[in-house]
Amino acid sequence: MPKSKVYGHVFDDETERNVLKLKSDGYISELLGPIGTGKEAYVFYSHDQHNNTVAVKIHRHHIGAFKQIPTYLRLRGTGSRGYIKRIDDWTRYEFNFMSRAFNVGVSVPEPMRNYKNIIVMAFIGEDDVPAKPAVQDRNFEVDSWYKKITDVIVLLGRRRIIHGDLSPYNILNLKGNPFFIDFSQALKLSNMTLPYLVRDITTINSWFKSLGFADTKSEDELIKLIDPLLLNEQ
Ligand SMILES: Nc1ncnc2c1ncn2[C@@H]1O[C@H](COP(=O)(O)OP(=O)(O)O)[C@@H](O)[C@H]1O
Ligand SMILES: [Mg+2]
Repeated sequence: MPKSKVYGHVFDDETERNVLKLKSDGYISELLGPIGTGKEAYVFYSHDQHNNTVAVKIHRHHIGAFKQIPTYLRLRGTGSRGYIKRIDDWTRYEFNFMSRAFNVGVSVPEPMRNYKNIIVMAFIGEDDVPAKPAVQDRNFEVDSWYKKITDVIVLLGRRRIIHGDLSPYNILNLKGNPFFIDFSQALKLSNMTLPYLVRDITTINSWFKSLGFADTKSEDELIKLIDPLLLNEQ
């Protein structure tokens, strides 16, 4: 981890204030270099008050960053105005869904704190080397991963949670164990959001088929395990 470089002045003023607030409340130290950068979020290393490494995910406050947010807000039934507030809502949703998944025992990084557009969570990696997304680290047991991932889809579904962006990019491989990240597109399962659950299952099935796994379960089979009544809605 590049400890010498401190990232303090690359954000908009609002985000800088939010980082400072988390620092002064003792949740994080300085931001110590990037772990990953997506289109809409940065993920940084930092330390918590016990000097444990944590991951700090910051959703960017810029207008182009929420093209899909209006649809999501409609599906989620919220409607705050102004893009900063929307991104803060978006981040809070991610944190809340992540926390619910964590609380039912899904392997997600432990969510530690949400403040506005920032999420502080446990770092997934070994000795400050982040675990790689499964798309980059194929060192896992295909059969047992298919079972684990579909078990998670079913467990979350029974709790009325859809991950919403499940793919080998959002599953980290920590020494052969899958960790589920990026709940930024999670949704509450309902008749209206069922297509998003179907999409997650389809993505996982095509990924495993591409790995040569022949025993995938169909969308209907998995949905039936979650709630057979949903099948009538398709
Ligand atoms: N808790 C974590 N521990 C280690 N690496 C992480 C963690 N959270 C995210 N990352 C890394 O940051 C990248 C981006 O995070 P993600 O939540 O998927 O954001 P985005 O919404 O930009 O896709 C991930 O692909 C992963 O490599
Ligand atoms: Mg992601």
